[in-house]
Amino acid sequence: MPDRDSALELSSAVANTSGKHSLFEEAIRKLPIPICSVFLDKEGKIQPAVFKEIDAALPSKDFEQAMKVFPLTVNLNKNVVLQAMPPQTPTKVTGKRLAVLFSGGPAAGGHNVLAGLKAVLGKENTLFGIRKGPKGLINGDLREVSCGDIRAIANTGGFDFLGTDRTKIKSPEQFEKVKETVVKNKLDGLIIVGGDDSNTNAAFIAEYLEGEGVKCSVIGIPKTIDGDMAVGKYLPISFGFDTASKVYSELVGNLTQDAASAVKYWHFVKLMGRTASKITLEVALQTKPAITLISEEVAEKNMSLEEIVEHVVDIITERRLKGINHGVVLVPEGLVEFIPEMRTLIQELNKVLAEYETDIKDLPTLKNKREFIYPLLSPQSAQFMASLPEEIEEMLILDRDEHGNVKVSQIETEKLLIDKIRYRVSEIKRHPDRFFGKGEGKYDATPEQIEKIKTLSLSTQSHFLGYEGRSGKPTLFDAAFTFNLGLAAGSLVLAGETGYMAALTDFDKGGRVLALPLSGLITSEERKGKTEEVIEKSLVTLSSASFKAFAANRDKWAGEDLFSSPGPIQHWGPTSKQIPISVALDQGYRDYKSFNLGEDHKLELE
Ligand code: FBP
Repeated sequence: MPDRDSALELSSAVANTSGKHSLFEEAIRKLPIPICSVFLDKEGKIQPAVFKEIDAALPSKDFEQAMKVFPLTVNLNKNVVLQAMPPQTPTKVTGKRLAVLFSGGPAAGGHNVLAGLKAVLGKENTLFGIRKGPKGLINGDLREVSCGDIRAIANTGGFDFLGTDRTKIKSPEQFEKVKETVVKNKLDGLIIVGGDDSNTNAAFIAEYLEGEGVKCSVIGIPKTIDGDMAVGKYLPISFGFDTASKVYSELVGNLTQDAASAVKYWHFVKLMGRTASKITLEVALQTKPAITLISEEVAEKNMSLEEIVEHVVDIITERRLKGINHGVVLVPEGLVEFIPEMRTLIQELNKVLAEYETDIKDLPTLKNKREFIYPLLSPQSAQFMASLPEEIEEMLILDRDEHGNVKVSQIETEKLLIDKIRYRVSEIKRHPDRFFGKGEGKYDATPEQIEKIKTLSLSTQSHFLGYEGRSGKPTLFDAAFTFNLGLAAGSLVLAGETGYMAALTDFDKGGRVLALPLSGLITSEERKGKTEEVIEKSLVTLSSASFKAFAANRDKWAGEDLFSSPGPIQHWGPTSKQIPISVALDQGYRDYKSFNLGEDHKLELE
């Protein structure tokens, strides 16, 4: 037994690790980060890059519309992509004041954006952090960011240093307030770290400030674990995706092992990703579970909820016929919105909610609201809505975010599926004659197999992996990606550019740093029943190399246990430089095992 003194010593050593001083956090802060060569001078010191037009225009969805909505920024940037180069003759820019905010959901690596900004600004310029996202911008809630702050947060996860929120800046009063904050704090630059909605905000703020004659560079940074803020070869992925999909892959890998060990459970795992199934596809490629649903495929094949249920039950039954009564099912968070009858229902609800917003708000109970809404829906949608559990109905009617999105992370899709699948599986057991036998649509089984299946029960466990992936310590890739994005955004502000999103590509060749005109990414979309200009989400396409690789293998993974476990995230060791498999496939890289974003550098701040 340890003596009293050493027990006390140990107890105080444990207490000393509070406030983010675990052994791991202490070590991770000192982790060297790869830096793209455009940001390094001959001595290997960080310097701002300069940006030059390259022969690459963005394939704007609706250039005419972009011209109408963003005449001033389009006039400035001509919808042309810029590329970062090392300066021929370095000139020192001094006295600039920049503010940065986080917007939307957290994503690992955000703190390193600040580290990159601080490093490129040097001590001659000032960096401010805006607390609590766009709301803080409206309220003018700023704090100066010191070198000490950066040393404390570098390479650590989450957005907790500043906080974030989802305020959509849309009213003239809000824009006026933003101007006030910019003018009052004499800001030369405003960096908005966010996803599609937040970068749309950035595009509008850039246009507004330009129109008001306020010279302030507004630059967006592509963040979202969902991976849907991506622009083909110009920006393969947003930051946070790699960390989140690795966190989930470790856990799903563990569940596949658990299923095969306990040999009795079907684990239904809903994975975060509001709209795109990119995370789910990546996790499937990493772990090879028995069943993976991809929302975009459901939409493209027009699969109804019943057809999805049938598809899952088919695999469960075929595995049972082989004596396997366990497995893992991956369900993308956004699935509900891609099921055709749900999509139609949401569209109809959006129109009704927009048209009768105040009437519905004033009705006291959910029952009253439902009674008001039902007659305004088509008979098919009304019937479908009535078939849904009450909690889901409530979410669809009451709970929207600031941008008008249904809060899909709160909808228990995995439980909805489990209920329906259970019913169908018990139907098969109760009516074997209808389901087993020869001929199309029937399971070919021996009488013994049928008898065996009748004795089996379906034990399910539901999981939602979401928030636990957004604020983890960034992977080495996300740490490097974000640090370089910070260097790029800072360089753009020092060069006086506005209305761009900083981007990084060629993860296999040392990194190519780009600036994408935000107006060139805008498209028109229905939101809350109205057409709005937004940045288009990048979804899984069935023609992509990543989807094809998954589709070519999924039947094998369904037929027997071929799962694999990627293990925990490594910051040192054999998998530390791995990038998402889906990104490597879609970008045509030779492998996914080792990224190259330049040489490792220790973070040294003056
Ligand atoms: P962002 O696109 O803003 O980064 O948010 C992504 C996300 O994590 C989604 O995957 C999820 O549906 C949503 O945020 C959850 O939002 P909230 O944090 O408001 O619950």
